[in-house]
Amino acid sequence: MALRNIRIMGDPVLEKKCKEVKDVTPRIKELVEDMLDTMYEANGVGLAAPQVGILKRIVVIDTTGEDPHVLINPEILETAGEQTGHEGCLSLPGKTGIVTRPNYVKVKAYDLDMNEYELEGEELLARAIVHELEHLDGHMYVEKVEGELMNVSSLSSESDEDEGDGSGDAPEEA
Ligand code: NI
Repeated sequence: MALRNIRIMGDPVLEKKCKEVKDVTPRIKELVEDMLDTMYEANGVGLAAPQVGILKRIVVIDTTGEDPHVLINPEILETAGEQTGHEGCLSLPGKTGIVTRPNYVKVKAYDLDMNEYELEGEELLARAIVHELEHLDGHMYVEKVEGELMNVSSLSSESDEDEGDGSGDAPEEA
């Protein structure tokens, strides 16, 4: 298991557009393994390659801890509905903000064998997919926050009942 350094907002690598992956080399496979390790170690639900300093269109997502998805060159095919709730990012630890996202997303991507597949997600998975894909174009969720960016630590006193993801006090980071 190899952990990579998660880049923090302000790092220029997080503001660049990533390049398409042409083929899955052993280095790419190693990168994906490391991204999964790094995401799990940080208790995140998603991680995009630029967050570990690599400008390639690769994303890993696992919203349940037992359902890892690897998305290479992902493209959104369809979105529907709306959800408004707390969002967080591993590149901005300890912060959260309210963001409105589609409640349903269908995406196509390539797997590690460069076979094309489709992934559908609702709620947290849909939120994670759009959040990660924005990283591939150099964008962070803070650009979409409604109201103020908050400290995660201030949330517990704010309200016992959270709408949105229903994920409780600590928003998922991706
Ligand atoms: Ni993020």
